Amino acid sequence: MSDVRTQAVRGPLCTEAPGCTAAEEPTRTATTTIRATATSTTTPTTTPTRTQAPTPLPELVGTGLPVPLVDGRTVPYANLDLAASAPALRAVADHVAELLPYYSSVHRGAGYASQVCTSVLEGARETVARFVGARADDVVVFTRNTTDALNLLAGAVPGATLCLDVEHHATLLAWRDTDHRVLRAPDTVDETLELLRDALTAEPTALLAVTGASNVTGEILPIDEICAIAHAAGTRVVLDAAQLAPHRRVDIAASGVDYVVLSGHKLYAPYGAGALIGRRDWLDVATPYLAGGGAVRSVGVADRTAEVSWAPAPHRHEAGTPNVLGAAAIAAACRALDPVIDEVAPAHERALLARLVDGLSGITGVRPLRIWADAPDRVAVASFTVADVPAGLVATALSAEHGIGVRDGRFCAHPLLARLAGGADAVRVSLGLNTTVEDVDGLVAAVRAIATSGPEWDYREVDGRWTPTPDPRDLDPLRLGAVAGPGGAACGH
Ligand SMILES: Cc1ncc(COP(=O)(O)O)c(C=O)c1O
Repeated sequence: MSDVRTQAVRGPLCTEAPGCTAAEEPTRTATTTIRATATSTTTPTTTPTRTQAPTPLPELVGTGLPVPLVDGRTVPYANLDLAASAPALRAVADHVAELLPYYSSVHRGAGYASQVCTSVLEGARETVARFVGARADDVVVFTRNTTDALNLLAGAVPGATLCLDVEHHATLLAWRDTDHRVLRAPDTVDETLELLRDALTAEPTALLAVTGASNVTGEILPIDEICAIAHAAGTRVVLDAAQLAPHRRVDIAASGVDYVVLSGHKLYAPYGAGALIGRRDWLDVATPYLAGGGAVRSVGVADRTAEVSWAPAPHRHEAGTPNVLGAAAIAAACRALDPVIDEVAPAHERALLARLVDGLSGITGVRPLRIWADAPDRVAVASFTVADVPAGLVATALSAEHGIGVRDGRFCAHPLLARLAGGADAVRVSLGLNTTVEDVDGLVAAVRAIATSGPEWDYREVDGRWTPTPDPRDLDPLRLGAVAGPGGAACGH
């Protein structure tokens, strides 16, 4: 059921994208195990055909959204900020709309709609488990997002946790109130694996927390090798798949990873849910993440105190009314992504990333950020600085003058940005299912113009955030009377 992919898979885009004949600088063999897709990606036909049509990429809501520019024009939005939050898959939005009439209580009602919703929630666990190749006895706990899932797991770890300094704050900070160590990642993957081997051998460690794909550079560590190293030392591994799961197959059973955490809003399912998937034993005995209804078998009162018998996982950690729409959305995303996550989506995104990296490399003053010289693979995320132009100004000008959405800041990875950019802000471009060659070329041309001649409009900086001056754009298209603040993300600063 499993194969090991050792080179970039070429997709439909490769015939048209310059630079896509070679995978983007993989100097090391990728060893991430990729599961053979469970779902057939082609429609069986009785008519012999010369070539089979590639599986189409699933549609996203909002593609081509018209957005205003400061010069009065309206252009289709180039959303190159999918690593922050991705728009919904059409299949996800449709599924949520189809479920809404049934929306009702979960696990609490005898009514027909309640039973439907309960079944949808429990079915969603199975779909998510299948999508990430969970073992038969693994448990799926629905959470709010990756941060929530990691904090939940932190309460269940029976010992010390180790992580690297390249992590997103979610993976760095979840363990802060527990026994934990943070190690500086060396400059190569080989040295990083060696460091982990030494550290885990030297000190008993219950859990190694590691990113599936960096939210700053997109780089992917060889998770199979990391699991082998950790398990040899008696250490479990949690994979932060927030950035990996939307772009590559995650296979728990084949890779040996013990826990996976992910966010629906990065998996094209932005309905407020995330998930923790993994081994049951720690979760079954841990203190419930939240105390309350739904997490218990029974409750009594004796000697003026509440006495409780807690349910096992997953319900033990899902007190309160569950987000059935969020869980259903993640499951719908898993169904829609399953046929394309092994080959079609990675091929599409690799080709675009190669084009992006190639384009940016030709711009004087643009400096790309990379952690490792030998990362075996990389999802389509690229961060860079532009000499003499603040990252916030670049991002604001890309939006205001070109209708391009990117992220600027330190990406909730302050220790990493301190290393890679001296603590300065950077610009991050992230691609996905609906990104086109035109989007990438437009971004490269716009960055070139800004890096060479500066922005064309006037901007002012207030409290570290840049705004066009004047800004004639309608920033309240939904007519809510909302006061739009200056762009930018607090987390990045
Ligand atoms: C690698 C990584 N881990 C964790 C997170 C946290 O995800 P969330 O904000 O959905 O909890 C992010 C968010 O950007 C991320 O990129």
